[in-house]
Formats: sequence, structure tokens, C-alpha cells
Amino acid sequence: MRIILLGAPGSGKGTQAEFICNTYKIPHISVGEILRTLLRESSVLKEEIGKFINTGRLVPDSWMISWVNCRIRKYDCLRGFLLDGFPRTIFQAYGIRKEGIAVDFVLEFFLPDACIVERIIGRRVHLSSGRIYHVKFNPPKINNIDDITGEPLIIRSDDTEECIKNRLHEYHDKSILLSDFYQKESCCNRNMKFFRIDGSKSILHIQKELINILNTR
Ligand code: AP5
Repeated sequence: MRIILLGAPGSGKGTQAEFICNTYKIPHISVGEILRTLLRESSVLKEEIGKFINTGRLVPDSWMISWVNCRIRKYDCLRGFLLDGFPRTIFQAYGIRKEGIAVDFVLEFFLPDACIVERIIGRRVHLSSGRIYHVKFNPPKINNIDDITGEPLIIRSDDTEECIKNRLHEYHDKSILLSDFYQKESCCNRNMKFFRIDGSKSILHIQKELINILNTR
């Protein structure tokens, strides 16, 4: 089960990635999470990566392609993987294709920009696990506390209104082209399926839809 999730910031990729990976027991490769961990832990890359993430711009393709290609080659990806937030440019899509990495499903989440801002502004995250909550749509049992560990939740440093504008701009400028790219690819490659998912539906509704799609394999 090799899956790519596409979609604008805040469209629900991370939320559903957690569900899919728990259900199908495949590793969740969240490129944003990898970058945020580097930002916290690597003093060498901190400044370089921070310049992109904290202004909502995409990190250069060449870095991303080599990191992801290395990650996918690890043993835990032998039975499959889920790529959340990669590729984000056509160049990145060619980057994995060139390495001969096959994909079974490309799932694109779509949601109007107006809903995205509310989703992102209300997001709360458990730092060490990456668990995602929303103050209104998916609240923790106790306000601002992770359900599993009891630790406090945080607000991501790029979840500011200014940064969201830039992230959406990058998405419409560079990532939206991927929808056409993979739709066309699915027409000539019978082993790869492309689906568009309405991200405005409830989390539970989308989970059921995903199970129906993924069980067709
Ligand atoms: P990344 O961390 O990947 O952020 P993103 O793509 O902007 O996506 P988000 O994590 O913001 O949203 P999501 O779609 O996962 O939504 P979520 O499930 O959290 O990337 C961050 C940065 O890293 C980028 O800006 C860039 O700088 C860099 N980067 C990453 N990948 C890169 C790449 N390939 N190349 C170059 N640079 C890269 O949901 C959002 C909220 O909505 C949550 O609060 C959730 O609880 C709630 N919610 C989810 N689903 C629903 C629902 N159905 N109904 C109601 N609420 C819902």
C-alpha cells in the first residue's frame, strides 16, 4: 500500500494520514514533521529550514527529493508507506518517479480557502507524537491537553494568519498542478488510482470514504 496525500495546508492530510497508517500499519512519512524536527534539533539546518517554514515558503526541491528518496528506501517502507505533503511540485513528482518509486493511490483533499484559515487557526498539536486536534472540530477531552499523554498541546509556529496566506499562495502557485499530473498518470497507469476527497465533510465521514477506496486494492 503506497499512498500519496495531496491537498492544501489545513485540508486534513495529517489527520487522515494518522488514521490510514494506524489502520493499514504503514509508516507515516510527514515531510512537514521531519522538517519541524530538524528545526528543533539540528542547529546546522535550523536557520536554513526556518527561513522557509516560518515564512510559509517551500523548501528547495533538491533537498526534499533526496531526503524523501532516502526515507522511502528504509526497511519499514518495504510493505508500503504514506507520503503526507510530498510531492508539492512537479519537479518533486518527477524526482520520485525517476527513482522508480511506484505509487498505488494518490488521494487529493480539496477544501475552499475560506474554510482552511479556520481549520489552521484552531489547530492544536501534541509535539512529540504529532497528534492533531482542533479547538472546535476535534477537541481534546481536556482543553489544551493531549488525550493520551496528558502533556500540553502547542500551536505550530507557521500557523499564523500571515504565514497561512503565504502557504496558500505557494499551494496555488506550485502544488495544485499535481492534481492534473496524477490524474493523467492514472489514465495511463492501471496500477495507480487517483481520487479527490471532499475535505469539508466530517472526519468520520472521510475515514469511511477512505476505507472504501483503499479496500479496492
Ligand atoms: P506541512 O506540515 O506538511 O503543512 P501543510 O501542508 O501546510 O499541511 P498542514 O499540516 O497545515 O495541514 P493538513 O492538511 O495536514 O491538515 P490537518 O490534518 O492538520 O508543511 C509545513 C511546511 O513545511 C510547508 O509550509 C513548507 O515550508 C515545508 N514543506 C513541507 N513539505 C514540503 C515539500 N514537499 N517541499 C517543500 N517544502 C515542504 O488539519 C488541519 C486542522 O483541521 C486540524 O486542527 C484538524 O483537527 C482539523 N480537521 C482535519 N480534518 C477535519 C475535518 N474533516 N473536519 C473538521 N476539522 C478537520
